[in-house]
This record gives sequence, C-alpha cells and structure tokens, in this order.
Amino acid sequence: MKFLDLKDIAERDIELVNPTSAEKILAIGRLAGMAPGKTLIDFGCGYAEPLVLWAESYGISGLGIDIREKAVQRARAKITRLGLAERLEIVHGSGADYSFEPGSFDYAACVGASFIWGGFRSALDAMQRAIRPDGKMIVGEVYWLKETVPHELAQAQSEFHSEAWLLRAAREAGFDVQYVVRASHDDWDRYEAGNWDGLLRWIEENPAHPERQQVIDHLHESQDEYFTYGREYFGWGLYLLNPVRYR
Ligand SMILES: C[S@@+](CC[C@H](N)C(=O)[O-])C[C@H]1O[C@@H](n2cnc3c(N)ncnc32)[C@H](O)[C@@H]1O
Repeated sequence: MKFLDLKDIAERDIELVNPTSAEKILAIGRLAGMAPGKTLIDFGCGYAEPLVLWAESYGISGLGIDIREKAVQRARAKITRLGLAERLEIVHGSGADYSFEPGSFDYAACVGASFIWGGFRSALDAMQRAIRPDGKMIVGEVYWLKETVPHELAQAQSEFHSEAWLLRAAREAGFDVQYVVRASHDDWDRYEAGNWDGLLRWIEENPAHPERQQVIDHLHESQDEYFTYGREYFGWGLYLLNPVRYR
C-alpha cells in the first residue's frame, strides 16, 4: 500500500489535514486581508477545507491542486454541496507540474505540503511565481521546537527545520513574516488522534484485507513517534508572508 493510500484511510473523517483549526485558518485569512474578488491558488489543497473556509467567510475565489484522486473527489463533492462551485475549482495533479499564468493570483497558499517542491525554501520560490508583485503567501509548515533533536528523530524527519531557519529562508526568498499562528498541543492531539481513529476503524472493518498488517504497522509507528517525541519536538505554524518592502 502506498503512503497516500494510507492517508486516504487515516483521513476518512478529517477535513483539515494539519495540526490547526478552522479558527486559525480563518484568522490568517483575515490578517491577509482576504475579500470578495481576491484570488488564491492552494497547492496540496487536500479536501479543500482552507479554501472553503476562506471562500465562505471572505468571499475569495480559488483554485486548489492535489495529487490524490480521492482527495480531489471529496473536495469537489464538498464544494458542490456547499454551493461554491462557481468560485472554487479543484485540479487533479502535481502542484509542481501545474502551469499557471505567472503573477496572476492575489494569494498563494500551501498548508502542510511544501514537500511538493522538496521543502520550504523551494516552495517559496515556486509559489512566489504565482502571485502579483503585492501578493501574499500563506504557508503551513512543521518545525523543530528545540535546537537539539535526538539523532534518530532528525534522520527520520530530515525535512524539518528550526523556526529561526524558516524565518531566514523566508527573508532570503524576499518575504517578511507578517504573522504566525502556531499549533497548540490540542491541535496536534486532534490531528494525530484523528488519523489513528480512522486507521483503527479501517482495521476493524477489514479483517481479511491482504494489506491489513501494513496499516496496523503504520498506526503503531505513527503513535510511537508521536508519544515519544511529538509534544517535546514538533511545532507547526501558519505563516503569512509579505513581499519585502522595508530593508
Ligand atoms: C498534509 S495534507 C494538507 C491538505 C490541506 N492543505 C489541508 O491543510 O487540509 C498534504 C496534501 O498534499 C497532497 N500532495 C502530496 N503531494 C502532492 C503533489 N506533488 N502535488 C499536489 N498535492 C500533493 C496530499 O495528497 C495531501 O492532500
């Protein structure tokens, strides 16, 4: 079973696929100045929950891209059900390959999917091409809570950085951090436990599935890592990035 198939199972009842909340997604949209008529491109949009929240509350129009067929189907069904199909569109494919008109969006978002381009720094360069010169970017990113991390954990999560590193990378890419909304322990617990709940229910419902053991192993490995290290070492923030105007 591929990793993204495991995500389909784990996220069966999850709409927001990150350690955050609807309130925090809305807060960053408000701080970004979202308003009717503004446009946004969301890379790795998942079930389009951030897009839906911003469209319903602030009236933006948007385009979401996700590589996972099932996520795209769920996102499209939700958008239709909520009557947002005239303003929100979901494209199936890789965010790295999607070709957009450069400089055509007011906002570019990537909430928990910078791995699309191999990490935070390259994500900023790719996303930057989508926005107007005065456009803003919203990036949800994991970071180390501590400067020193156990060797085996640093190896397992080699794409993580400290928050000071994220700040430097944002400035290097030509952005000031305008705002940050961080994950609380409760946000992390809700997200991680939501995944375990989805996995456990699938395991119960599929006693004879040939790949059941892989799903059980995935559940246990994810719990081992979170209970051993999560609370002490994992941070997550939603960063609002503004093109640098002051030096
Ligand atoms: C952690 S989830 C975040 C989903 C959404 N942004 C949210 O906050 O609810 C990451 C998403 O990136 C998608 N993804 C993975 N690789 C991708 C790629 N190359 N292009 C586009 N989406 C991708 C996954 O299918 C998944 O839905």
